[in-house]
Amino acid sequence: MAHVLATAQPLALLKRPPPPKASFVDGNDKGPKARHGESESDPAVGLAVARHEFGEHGGVNMSIEASATFTVMEPEILRRLFTGELGPERDQLYIYSRHFNPTVLALGRQMAALEGTEAAYCTASGMSAISSVLMQLVGAGGHVVASRCLYGGTHALLSQFLPRTSGVHTTFVDMDDEVAVRSAMKPGETRVVFVETMSNPTLAVADIPMLARLACEAGAKLVVDNTFTPVVVSPARLGADVVVHSMSKFISGCADIIAGAICGPASLVKAMMDLQDGALMLLGPTMNAKVASELAGRLPHLPLRMQEHSRRAAEFATRMRLLGLQVRYPGLPDHPHHDRLSAMGNPGYGAGGMLCVDMGTEERANSLMYHLQNTTQFGLMAVSLGYYQTLMSCSGNSTSSEMAPDDRARAGISPGLIRMSIGYNGTLDQRWAQFERAVTLMKQETPSASASKLI
Ligand SMILES: Cc1ncc(COP(=O)(O)O)c(C=O)c1O
Repeated sequence: MAHVLATAQPLALLKRPPPPKASFVDGNDKGPKARHGESESDPAVGLAVARHEFGEHGGVNMSIEASATFTVMEPEILRRLFTGELGPERDQLYIYSRHFNPTVLALGRQMAALEGTEAAYCTASGMSAISSVLMQLVGAGGHVVASRCLYGGTHALLSQFLPRTSGVHTTFVDMDDEVAVRSAMKPGETRVVFVETMSNPTLAVADIPMLARLACEAGAKLVVDNTFTPVVVSPARLGADVVVHSMSKFISGCADIIAGAICGPASLVKAMMDLQDGALMLLGPTMNAKVASELAGRLPHLPLRMQEHSRRAAEFATRMRLLGLQVRYPGLPDHPHHDRLSAMGNPGYGAGGMLCVDMGTEERANSLMYHLQNTTQFGLMAVSLGYYQTLMSCSGNSTSSEMAPDDRARAGISPGLIRMSIGYNGTLDQRWAQFERAVTLMKQETPSASASKLI
C-alpha cells in the first residue's frame, strides 16, 4: 500500500517497509493531531487527521488489495503468522482476507477515527457486525438487556435466533426507565446492554452516559448501534464500549452497498479475529476489499451529507407540524429527548436525517406514500435509509414486521407510522411543494379509493 511497495522485485517481499510506529489499532493516533481551535471530538476532525493511505503508485486513493491470500518468502513466516507472533498490526504481514485484509483494515482505521474508538473492523453487513459482536461478547447461555425498540432484524436475532441457537436470552426494557434497566440486569449473567442511539423507527434517543454507567456497574458491555446517527452522535465518547454500524445506510449514502462495522477496543477486534475463537474469523462475515475501497471514498463527505440530511429533516419536520401532521423528530423542541440529544450530540450536525409521520392508520399512511412517490415524486417507497433521495416506509408492515404486534405496540410503533429518511437532492422548496401537494391529494381521497390504488 505504501509507495515503497511499488517495486516489482520479488526481494521487496522480504524487505517490507518498516512497520509504522504505532499498531493498526491506534488509527486515531496516527497523523497530525487536531490543531488549536478544532475540537478533537468532532468526527470530521477525527476523520481528517486519521492516517491517509496512498495508492501503491502514489495514487491519492489507497490501492485495493484484491487478494484472498498473501505470499511469504520464508515458510517460517507463515508459521509465525499462525502463532500470532507476526501480524498485520506490527509487521504489515497478512495471512488470508477472511482474516485481516489491508484495504478493509484501512477502512476500519477511518471508522475508528469517525467513532473515536481505539480500533474498528468492517464486515459484510450491519447484521453480521451485530450478530458477531453479540456472539463474541455474550457466549452460550448468557443474558442481554436490550431496548424494547430496535430494528426488526436485531429484535428477531435477540428474541428468536440467539435463544434457539445458543441459549442467549434477552430482557427487553424501556431504556428510559433507569429502575427497569437496573432490575433487568442479572448479576454474573448479563454480558451486554444493547441499544440504538436513535431507535428504529420510533426515534427515541438513548441516554448513553446513563446506560454506560449501569452496564459498567453490572459488569456488562454497552453496545450501541449508531446506524441512524453517524457523526451526529459519538457513542464511544459518551461511554459506550462498542459501537456497531450498518454502513449500508448513511455511511454508504448511495443505497448500493451492504456493509457493517464494529468499533471498539483493540482487544475486541483482536479477539474477534482470533484464529481459534474469534467470531469474525470463524463466522466469516468478511467485507470485500473492493467494497472497502468504495466506502473509504465516501466517508470523507459523510459529515457534509449528515449536515444537509439534518437541515432538511429539521425544516420538513417544522413545516409538517404546521400542516397539522403528527410528526416525530428529535430536533423539534417538544420531542421528549430533544434536550438529551442536544447535550449528547456533536455541535453543528443537527438532529439527524430521520423523521416519522404518524398517519393514524396504515391505509392513510399508504395513501400518502403512494402520492409522495407516484404523483408528486417527493421520494421513494423503500426500506433503508441514508440515501440522497428521500426513502419512506410504513415500519409496522415492513422493517418492524418481525416483531409481534404486542411488542410493536409496546415499542410505540403504531400501524400508521411512516418512517422517512430525508434526502438532499433537489431543492428544499421544490421538495416541500411536492410534499404539500401529496397531502392535499390524500385528503381529497376517500379511504377506499386510496386503498384501491395500492393494488
Ligand atoms: C438500526 C439498524 N441496524 C442494523 C441494520 C442491519 O443492517 P444491514 O442491512 O446492513 O445488515 C439495520 C437495517 O435496516 C438498521 O436499521
